[in-house]
Amino acid sequence: MDLKKYFHMNSGAGKNSYASNSKIQGLIICKSQSVRREAAVEAYLGTDWPATMSVADLGCSSGPTALLEVEDIMEAIERECVELRRQPPEFNLLLNDLYGNDFNAVFRSLPEFYSRRPGKGLCFVTGVPGTFYGRLFAAKSLHLVCSSSSLHWLSQMPEELQQKEGSPAACVNKGKVFISAGSPPCVAEAYRKQFHRDFTTFLRCRAEEIVRGGLMVLAFMSRKNREAAMMEDLYIWELLADALNAMASENLVAQERIDSFNAPFYAPSLEELEEEIEGEGSFCIRSSDHFGAGWDDDDLYSPTGGAAADGVIRPVRYAVRMEKGVRAVAEWMLRSHFGEGLAMDDLFCRYGELLAKHYADHEAAMTNVVITLVRK
Ligand SMILES: C[S@@+](CC[C@H](N)C(=O)[O-])C[C@H]1O[C@@H](n2cnc3c(N)ncnc32)[C@H](O)[C@@H]1O
Repeated sequence: MDLKKYFHMNSGAGKNSYASNSKIQGLIICKSQSVRREAAVEAYLGTDWPATMSVADLGCSSGPTALLEVEDIMEAIERECVELRRQPPEFNLLLNDLYGNDFNAVFRSLPEFYSRRPGKGLCFVTGVPGTFYGRLFAAKSLHLVCSSSSLHWLSQMPEELQQKEGSPAACVNKGKVFISAGSPPCVAEAYRKQFHRDFTTFLRCRAEEIVRGGLMVLAFMSRKNREAAMMEDLYIWELLADALNAMASENLVAQERIDSFNAPFYAPSLEELEEEIEGEGSFCIRSSDHFGAGWDDDDLYSPTGGAAADGVIRPVRYAVRMEKGVRAVAEWMLRSHFGEGLAMDDLFCRYGELLAKHYADHEAAMTNVVITLVRK
């Protein structure tokens, strides 16, 4: 599975698309808005009021959230310029994602995006395909980098868990698809090492690209507890493994395929993240914070006020949303590993039922971190 070449969210605007199922990511952008706005102003002031400000969004995807962050950033800087009685900068907006992303959908939404800025300064949007675990931009060309709900994706399944001929680590995580309370300790260690390699590469690349005084605002899934097997959000993967194992017991999927699959995902603790940043050394941490985002919040944000608006009981309603959200994000990856023969509707129907049971007595929220870094 070559993630760099093929990994993508479900494209288009259909019922299983990312565009139709990215409410929780929209909520995460909303909840980290004030941090992003503050960082935008600091980057503008700290890089001596550039006449053209270059802003990159890493992992923009497509759909209603693709332009939200850069829009927010421009608005914050333009508002500051009114206060300062300065001419606002022109904006170079660089939207990055992997090669398989539905960039066409993003480009098609641009006329509408430009029309939301009557009387405002010029901005120029460019799509930048490629992995953020490598160089994407010219040296010292960026003033501000933002990224939301993307950095919890690793560049690959942990190297130490990949099935290679003669590898003693092959299939150590039997019946699981991620770190689980029942996994041997080497599994969490393999994930930690892969995260270390990936995040260090990410920081080194951005350190080349961001000017001195420039900033990064990164929001992504995290965990409150240092202990990896205590991750609050393990259930997302644990229940997916349960649904797959149930299908294997009916010969609908090969058990060995489950045993050899380890999701390329990692949610670091805040301490772990800070250690990586300090260890790499190119950035100082301006601020860092945890926040929860869940379907309860989503109800608060919804125009109908949520709760029992659609008459379906809460755990089931939350389960349907989560199942659709995970499918929009993970379907390609599962197809690529398990093959076209895997019946996705069946898998996600089972997954939804397990989620509904889980939400009957557990909170439906996920832990995120938002961290602001300044290039030294
Ligand atoms: C869940 S979406 C988040 C999209 C958007 N930022 C939002 O908040 O809705 C994660 C995005 O990160 C992208 N992504 C994952 N790994 C990446 C990598 N190594 N380089 C660039 N983009 C990546 C995925 O393709 C996907 O579009």
